[in-house]
Parts: sequence; C-alpha cells; structure tokens
Amino acid sequence: MIDLRTRYLGLELRTPLIASAGPLQTKVDMAQRMQEAGAGAIVLPSMFEEQLVHESMDLHALLESWADLSPEAEGFSPDMHDYNLGPRTYLEYLETLAGGLDIPVLASLNGSSGGGWVGYARRMADSGAAAIELNVYQVAADPSVPGTEVERRYLDLVGEVRAAVSVPIAVKIGPYFSSMAHMAMRLIEAGADGLVVFNRFLQPDIDLETLTVVPTLHLSTREEIRLPLRWIAILRGHVAGSLAATTGVHTAEDVLKMILAGADAVMMTSALLKNGPEYLRLVLDGVELWLAERGYEGVEQAKGSLSQRSGPDPSAFERANYMEALSTYSSRFH
Ligand SMILES: Cc1cc2nc3c(=O)[nH]c(=O)nc-3n(C[C@H](O)[C@H](O)[C@H](O)COP(=O)(O)O)c2cc1C
Repeated sequence: MIDLRTRYLGLELRTPLIASAGPLQTKVDMAQRMQEAGAGAIVLPSMFEEQLVHESMDLHALLESWADLSPEAEGFSPDMHDYNLGPRTYLEYLETLAGGLDIPVLASLNGSSGGGWVGYARRMADSGAAAIELNVYQVAADPSVPGTEVERRYLDLVGEVRAAVSVPIAVKIGPYFSSMAHMAMRLIEAGADGLVVFNRFLQPDIDLETLTVVPTLHLSTREEIRLPLRWIAILRGHVAGSLAATTGVHTAEDVLKMILAGADAVMMTSALLKNGPEYLRLVLDGVELWLAERGYEGVEQAKGSLSQRSGPDPSAFERANYMEALSTYSSRFH
C-alpha cells in the first residue's frame, strides 16, 4: 500500500494532487467529485483586487474568450457565467464548501498592490479557508519602475496578508524574476509558508479581422511543465517553505517528475477541464503504480530525490545545455 500523504503549507494532504484555481471548483457537485476522485485539496478561483476595491469588475472579455476554449476542453466545458462570484457570494460559497468537504479548501486572492482589500484574507480564513493563496499578478510595464521596486511591492503585499491572517499563505508567482532563488527566499522570509510555481499569465493577442487586442485563454500543454520543473528542483534546496507545482501537469508521469524534483503538491487545471474531475483518480492510480513498482513507500520518500541538491548531477538543472541538446537533435538526421 503506497502512502500518498504529503505535507503542504503545514497541512496534511491525503494525496499530493490539488485542483488549482479554476472554474470547476465553482460548483459544489464538481468539488465533491474531485474529492471522491482523490484530490488532496482544492483551490477556489481568485477574488480579484479590482472586485474588492470597486465591488465589481468587468470580466466579460475574459469569459468570452473562455467560450473559445470549449473545443479544446473536448466536451467538458463548465458554465462560466458565474465564474467570478461577487465578494459576499464568494465567502458564502467558501463556507459551504469548506463545511461540506473533508479535504482542505484554499481561497485565492489576486492583486498587485497593498491596501484595505488585503484584509479580505481574514474574512476568507473566517469563512473556512484552510490557507490563502495569494496570486500576485503584475505586468511590470512601467520603464520608470526598477525591478527592486517591483520586488518590494510583492514583499510588502505578502507582509500585509501575513499580518491579516494566521492560516498558512502560499504565494503564486510568475517566472520572470531576475534572481528567482533569491526572490523565493525573500517571499518566505516575508511570511509566506510556500510558493506556487508558476502562474500562467494570460497573453493578449491581436485579432487581424477586427484589429483589436483580445485576451486569450488557452489550456496548457505538457511541454510547459519544464519551466516549473526546473525551478522546483532548484528551489527545493534553497527554500524553507512548501512548493507546489503548477502549469502543464497533465499525466501521472508529469506528477511524478514534479514530486521527484521536490514538489510537496502538484496542481492541475487544464487537464481537469479537458477530462473532468474523475481524471484525478486515473492520475493517482498511475502515480501509485509507478511508486510501487520502484519500491517506494510513498510520496514523502520520493519527494525531492532528483532535486538539484539531492540528484546525481546538481548542475543539470542550471546548465543551459544547448550543445548537448543540439547534438542529440542533429544525430536524428545521420
Ligand atoms: C479557465 C481558467 C481559469 C483560471 N482561473 C484562475 C484564478 O481565478 N486564479 C488563479 O490563480 N489561477 C487561475 N487559473 C490558472 C490555473 O490555476 C493554473 O495555475 C494554470 O491554468 C496552469 O495550470 P494547468 O497547466 O494545470 O492548467 C485559471 C486557469 C484557467 C484555464
């Protein structure tokens, strides 16, 4: 019997698979199906700073772009109309879900500047959130603002949320810091209990028909795991807090790679949108089988065994090994 339990943010999860913030979690029955299929925890969609500051936000364009996703989601397309619930509905829903499920329910706050809205984290905790995931979403486009200032804003924000709640905090970050390992360490020092690596930013597109800039939202592909995989492996040895992997995780193999690299928890959204909540069970079965075949007792034992610090070749995750990659590529043509 493989022990799938893992510790994440000080919480004991029965499995390492977490449904990351996404639309399926906005329905109680979907959340229950995820629990039944083996999810270790679920993260609710984000409550956005704009919603809390202005009490409303026009997410219309984003939701319309979701409509374009339906073919990608291969028949599994949830209703997005009430995706971004108003603040009061969000808290009520959180309370219902946290009270009704046995697994931890995490709430998510999304913003980029400090201020009164951050106090909302406390209301989330009071409504039953086992932890707060803080998604700092910022496109640093102002040339007059140096990187140090951008980083300071992140750290201040984490400090403000830390002051507001006693439940654990995870910070969902993007991959664009110049010194990722240093920044990761400082986020933990500022009060985060863990990091979610990495946020997948929406990238705008240009519509050549209408000559307008449109938001686009496509599901991830498996190719995308390698960026978070590298950084989970590097950060495992440097960061005292928990690490969750997100972006591009679609199969049991992807989950195993993240665990071996050092992830405490592994998150999925796109794969669940494509395949439905029961897909979690299939992935977990694959994880369990692989661990059993190789004689592991459980997830904790496998965790980090191929991280930069523990693996056989510590430089492998830092090497920008174009020469090697190119030689294997060209050998295909001989
Ligand atoms: C339709 C959709 C809605 C999402 N909503 C949120 C959100 O509200 N907050 C958040 O932090 N991430 C959100 N995400 C990002 C996911 O939580 C996840 O980090 C990202 O999709 C990468 O993981 P994946 O490759 O498993 O999809 C959303 C993703 C999708 C596809």
